[in-house]
Amino acid sequence: MKILLFGKNGQLGWELQRSLAPLGHLTAVDFDSTDYCGDFSNPAGVAETVRLVKPDVIVNAAAHTAVDKAESEKSFAELLNATSVKSIALEANKLGAWLVHYSTDYVFDGSGEQPWVETDQTSPLNTYGETKLAGEHAAALCSRHLVFRTSWVYAARGANFAKTMLRLGQERSDMSIINDQFGAPTGAELLADCSAHAIRIAKSKPEVAGLYHLVAAGSTTWYDYAKLVFSKAREAGITLAVTEVKGVPTSAFPTPAKRPHNSRLDTSKFKQTFDLELPDWAIGVERMLSEIMFK
Ligand SMILES: NC(=O)c1ccc[n+]([C@@H]2O[C@H](COP(=O)([O-])OP(=O)(O)OC[C@H]3O[C@@H](n4cnc5c(N)ncnc54)[C@H](OP(=O)(O)O)[C@@H]3O)[C@@H](O)[C@H]2O)c1
Repeated sequence: MKILLFGKNGQLGWELQRSLAPLGHLTAVDFDSTDYCGDFSNPAGVAETVRLVKPDVIVNAAAHTAVDKAESEKSFAELLNATSVKSIALEANKLGAWLVHYSTDYVFDGSGEQPWVETDQTSPLNTYGETKLAGEHAAALCSRHLVFRTSWVYAARGANFAKTMLRLGQERSDMSIINDQFGAPTGAELLADCSAHAIRIAKSKPEVAGLYHLVAAGSTTWYDYAKLVFSKAREAGITLAVTEVKGVPTSAFPTPAKRPHNSRLDTSKFKQTFDLELPDWAIGVERMLSEIMFK
């Protein structure tokens, strides 16, 4: 099987390089690759890459993920998150290839308290969510598509919320952390492994093409997530300055992009279709914490 991976150096792209390797011959590119164009600001260039590589499966982990920045550069976010996705989807469709693409809980408006299902009404609150929703529609132009909506992605490599909390927890005595956004922190490792399993199933069962919610089990808030980080840091013998952690509403930290309160996603369809279990979010976060704290 020939696999083409876009966005190989992002949180998810890095893990996909590992998880996709045993499935076949992997060609992995990033926006600055010189052998093939992997730059999503160049829709014709990425389409040409698909034509040259002639993959059986395309996995797209490239995206404009700077949620606040997207508010002031909407057309650039649209180019990366939708226009270039359409471009590769149309080429993939001509080849009869699979397109695996990732979307977000930010396609929903965050109302209510129930986990969202795939058929729920979308209504993004910000530009990032709007462009990612357009990207879902673009990916579906390839009849053999798998679109995975995920949330709160972290990885041991690169910057992440837990690392920021660890740093701030060593510098500040009191901290205020948002406690009215609910979601599931989801490891790039888990997403990458589930993607590889799903591709194996899809190759023999084309009827599984479609849209799926794919996140770790359970849910938390940024406040409880941070408290877990501090408690694991103390267990590991790290001295923290923080003595008071206050839960505050989202309104305490005004940002250019509005965030949804309810980011819970129902993963029943994914688990049933691909016969997989999704572990609790804390299992992956604790594993990532031990990787970053014992370096
Ligand atoms: N992170 C989250 O919390 C989250 C939540 C829900 C859904 N998702 C979705 O999950 C997928 C993977 O996200 P992630 O967390 O791995 O994000 P990420 O770490 O930001 O990875 C995105 C990758 O795209 C690259 N990129 C930027 N501009 C590009 C361009 N012009 N052409 C090609 N690539 C470009 C980035 O490069 P640079 O790093 O050099 O800019 C980065 O390597 C995305 O579809 C994202 O929308 C993420």
